Amino acid sequence: MSGHTCAGGSGCPQEERVVSKNRTVYLKDYQPPQWLVDDVYLDFALQPSATEVISTIRYRRNPLAEQGDALLLDGHDMELLSIRLDGELLMPERYRVHAGGLEIPAVPERFTLEVTTRIDPQGNTSLDGLYRSGGNYCTQCEAQGFRKITYYPDRPDVMAPFTVRMTADAADNPVLLSNGNPVASGKLDDGRHWAEWQDPFAKPAYLFALVAGNLACVEDHFVTASGRTIALRIYTEAHHIDQCDHAMASLKRAMRWDEERFGLEYDLDLFMLVAVDDFNMGAMENKGLNIFNSQLVFASPEIATDDDYISIEAVIGHEYFHNWTGNRVTCRDWFQLSLKEGLTVFRDQCFTSDLHSAAVKRIEDVRLLRALQFAEDASPMAHPIRPASYMEINNFYTVTVYEKGAEIVRLYQTLLGIDGFRRGMDLYFQRHDGQAVATEDFLAAMADANDADLSQMQRWYDQAGTPRLSVRMEYDSAAHRCTLHVSQSCPSTPEAEVKQPFLIPLALGLLRADGTPLALQLAGEAEGCGSSRTLLVTEAEQSFTFVNVPEAPVPSLLRDFSAPVILDYPYRAEDDAFLMAYDEDPFNRWAAAQRLAMRTMLAMLAGEAADVELIATAFSRLLADPDLDAALKAEALMLPSESEVADACAVADPGHIHEVREQLRVRIATLLQGELESTHAELAAASGLDDLAMQQRKLKNVCLSYLLTLKTGRVIELAYRCFLQAACMTDQYAALAGLASCDCAERKLALSAFEAQWQGEANVMGKWLAVQAGSSLPDTLEQVKQLLAHPAFDLRNPNKVRALIGTFALRNPALFHAIDGSGYRFVADQVLQLDRMNPQVAARMVRALMNWKRLEPVRSGLMRAQLQRLSDAGLSADVGEIVSKSL
Ligand code: PHE
Ligand code: ZN
Repeated sequence: MSGHTCAGGSGCPQEERVVSKNRTVYLKDYQPPQWLVDDVYLDFALQPSATEVISTIRYRRNPLAEQGDALLLDGHDMELLSIRLDGELLMPERYRVHAGGLEIPAVPERFTLEVTTRIDPQGNTSLDGLYRSGGNYCTQCEAQGFRKITYYPDRPDVMAPFTVRMTADAADNPVLLSNGNPVASGKLDDGRHWAEWQDPFAKPAYLFALVAGNLACVEDHFVTASGRTIALRIYTEAHHIDQCDHAMASLKRAMRWDEERFGLEYDLDLFMLVAVDDFNMGAMENKGLNIFNSQLVFASPEIATDDDYISIEAVIGHEYFHNWTGNRVTCRDWFQLSLKEGLTVFRDQCFTSDLHSAAVKRIEDVRLLRALQFAEDASPMAHPIRPASYMEINNFYTVTVYEKGAEIVRLYQTLLGIDGFRRGMDLYFQRHDGQAVATEDFLAAMADANDADLSQMQRWYDQAGTPRLSVRMEYDSAAHRCTLHVSQSCPSTPEAEVKQPFLIPLALGLLRADGTPLALQLAGEAEGCGSSRTLLVTEAEQSFTFVNVPEAPVPSLLRDFSAPVILDYPYRAEDDAFLMAYDEDPFNRWAAAQRLAMRTMLAMLAGEAADVELIATAFSRLLADPDLDAALKAEALMLPSESEVADACAVADPGHIHEVREQLRVRIATLLQGELESTHAELAAASGLDDLAMQQRKLKNVCLSYLLTLKTGRVIELAYRCFLQAACMTDQYAALAGLASCDCAERKLALSAFEAQWQGEANVMGKWLAVQAGSSLPDTLEQVKQLLAHPAFDLRNPNKVRALIGTFALRNPALFHAIDGSGYRFVADQVLQLDRMNPQVAARMVRALMNWKRLEPVRSGLMRAQLQRLSDAGLSADVGEIVSKSL
């Protein structure tokens, strides 16, 4: 089962299925719920430090579950005030309270349970359950926060309609919201008022939400394809109300897109979105009442960068799309998390890609996957997209479950085509609307709707690790045949030593020496068809022969990143430069640029001669290419990150990697200074929020960042001028971030000007903290320590923690890995403090210390020592799991 928690001591009747904190929960132990819920009625008497919750719930035995008449409910961090069973007050000897829940040994077949609890929203710093943010009440219940509100079978396969009533002080809380539709409200004579909400759709408890406080609202509406009018409301503190237009427009685009692409309409008459400053994650898809990290709502050109604009649109889409993929069809248990997250990320990727540049979107997603997910797959926390076990579910909201999960969903579309994928989605909803299901059900819908055998896809769900796809080409000039020998392998990961072969679609093309594509004809086929096609790799080793190949071609492999694998082909640097210039597939032009840069940096690391001229010439040709859009040029010019380089080394020396990467950037900037300056100047005037302007700003700022590596008075002056004259946050931020790594007077001036300008905007001050924490100047750690005391920082606010501590720990490898161990010690100190307040956020930070085994011996020992120090301290289950798995 999905993790009923109780202390599990002697006398606990179902001991083998009962799990306490710090114990592992296994997928194989899943059992259907013993009790089903007919309906839930919640009554909140909201008070900042003592909120009383009365839950009245009708239970009924699940005919499909085993016998036994004990009721086990999840719950902790609450004060239990009373229990009534069918109206009768239960004396303490009739029930037992454990560390993780409540047990009532003998209950009838059907009954109503009324439980009163008292909770402390004000004192809840974990931001999980009912808490306060900016003086307002809000909730976060995924994955297991509902059990901090009342006793409940808190597992996603228990679904019920909810009715919620809340009373609160009317002056402080004019707005009272919950899921579904408002059904009644009224005033009380003691200055309090109340409201009642009803959600007609049965849902798991993790989708419950409540918001109460003093909030302003922007209102709009959307007319669905079938002609229903939906009211749309965005709530926020009053002083941000004029920064919600982009969010509202994004929401309407998402609603339209889901209708057009998947035939999915919104189902309630009201859709609400609330922005809060204190939030552990990006946003949450509570039914009809999405709650967002304010960072992913507020936008105006002055405060949000172009990247922020795109992410806001994407996350608004993501949460909205969950209404069908997550809410209407939900997860049977938390092992199935990728069923909703991988699918919904894939949907939001398609949304962005349809609205903007598909190639740029693909490149950015793959960049993220390679930098973060490949690293996770090679770490002690490696897990399949459907893990077989976990200790703390909060630790499995990972790039693997989300981003690799989305790649696996994309595989179905690659295999079945857009129409085939849509048929699979239609069948999935037809079969499972209103149900809590498993990843197998999704696979089966895709297969059945297309009469396809997709059984091998299952391995992507069960096996962790990044497969390596090795390709060798053999050309027979006499027979005009070209054979690709393909083999796949996958390193062992914690869940399995030996891996079964994956189903890998390999999209490819073959290029002639003049850069034109060849028509592709496999041996046995009557004629050639197309210049790009997808081979299916299913075995450990396979060969594919193309005929009518008049000359030895250069293969363009894994086009559009057709599978989440590491490609291994003996490309020469000239091949990369050639593909950068001629490949029809824009993604592979980028991939070739990355490979060329990576090859150059690895050569430099090994102390070998590196052909910087070749890469500079290739970049210069790209810059001049009239057919390439500015954003693609920008993407190609951005070198693989230091962490990607580290992943490519057997044993990493982060200091050396940083040096080499900077050196390469300096040498490229020196060789291309004229072109970088002229491109920068040509694009200086890009303005507005259309795609073209955004693409131009992106390239302009990449040029600026190269130029700044030269650190001459002239470029510093240029950057400072850009900072002062910036008409939008994109340009202001790019200039500031660049200057932050230059030891010059302009750096100080820009930082204080920015601070003076933006001290009233919390999210913008997050950027100010982040640029300083990301600086490559030697005294960065000292600065970061001082910033901990700055009024713009707050250890209780996750955005600020991510901006300052997170940037330093996870995005500044050179200084985090300082050879004296100071970075490691600092991060461990912060994790210890944070863990007492907010274990989920602490557990994100501690991941920086996970990969000591991959480092050179000195740093390796220092990092391990900090993990040991943490392990010796008392830790939350969240941080404890990561520390114990890393040691
Ligand atoms: N389900 C949220 C999403 O869309 C993420 C989330 C998980 C938010 C847990 C809060 C807590 O992806
Ligand atoms: Zn999601």
